Amino acid sequence: MTMKKKELIVTSALPYANGPLHFGHLLEHIQTDIWVRSQRILGNHCIYLCASDAHGTPIMMKAEEENIAPEKLVDKYMKAHKKTLEAFQVSHDCYYQTHSEENKKYSELIYNTALENGYIKKQNIKQLYDKDKKLFLADRYVQGNCPKCNAPDQYGDNCDVCGAKYEATELINPLSIFSKKPPVIKDSEHLFFSLTKLEAEIKKWIDESSLQESVINKLQEWFKDGLMDWDISRDAPYFGFKIPGFEDKFFYVWLDAPIGYIGTLEKFLKDSKNKASAKDLWSEDSRHEIYHFIGKDILNFHALFWPALLHAAEFKKTI
Ligand code: 2FM
Ligand code: ZN
Repeated sequence: MTMKKKELIVTSALPYANGPLHFGHLLEHIQTDIWVRSQRILGNHCIYLCASDAHGTPIMMKAEEENIAPEKLVDKYMKAHKKTLEAFQVSHDCYYQTHSEENKKYSELIYNTALENGYIKKQNIKQLYDKDKKLFLADRYVQGNCPKCNAPDQYGDNCDVCGAKYEATELINPLSIFSKKPPVIKDSEHLFFSLTKLEAEIKKWIDESSLQESVINKLQEWFKDGLMDWDISRDAPYFGFKIPGFEDKFFYVWLDAPIGYIGTLEKFLKDSKNKASAKDLWSEDSRHEIYHFIGKDILNFHALFWPALLHAAEFKKTI
């Protein structure tokens, strides 16, 4: 009896395009590559994809430091990543980047569908703002005393000394790491993805998935604490894709990064003159199975936000 071969889409986590690869990246890619090669030996068809993760404030800052456009910086590191991975004979079918027309198309499609389906809402938030740099400060760009234990030089999200988690606006005597001056608190309207509405769906997906027990246990901790809606927008200046309908708002890098898996699939299909679109292979009724290889530090993005977003946008959820 011959078994029907499987159709697999496999990805490794996308390395940021603001520096060369390190051993951690190589370990992950080589592990994925071993699995991909074993699947191919078994006769299954694998499309193995990866890309450099191009967006976000650290990339914008690094480009400023090197005095080049972010697009140039991303191209430079994407080429370097590709060269290193080729030297280690990692067998990607396509290695691309998230700052691409394909990824823009799918980011807009997924956002617009989630919006039409009622999963995007607006909410005003207060953030620390550096008036000299004209920049809303991400948690890593502000330091001050911990609001719980008063330890000095703590970042805006959690304290390295006592482990407390807090909002950057709660820091005592905060200073911007850019101007070294105290930031002001400024209001801004942000777009949130309604993760809370999809709690039951995500739980169902987890129950039906083949995730390992340790992963499921970690996910349960987040459910116990209660899910929260997810801020998917960032104000200008930001290096990313503009959000449709807004002049000065961009998708948060973690919104378009996993969509980059789909954008890279589209690029692969185009380059190999395949008539199918990435959406065809990633649709609910496709027989393709999708596997993401990731490190545990990005589990929340792949096992909570990503399946929820795929569900909201009517795409197939991954395994
Ligand atoms: O943590 C990181 O290095 C991210 N660049 C991984 C992104 S994986 C995917 F979601 F795009
Ligand atoms: Zn503390």
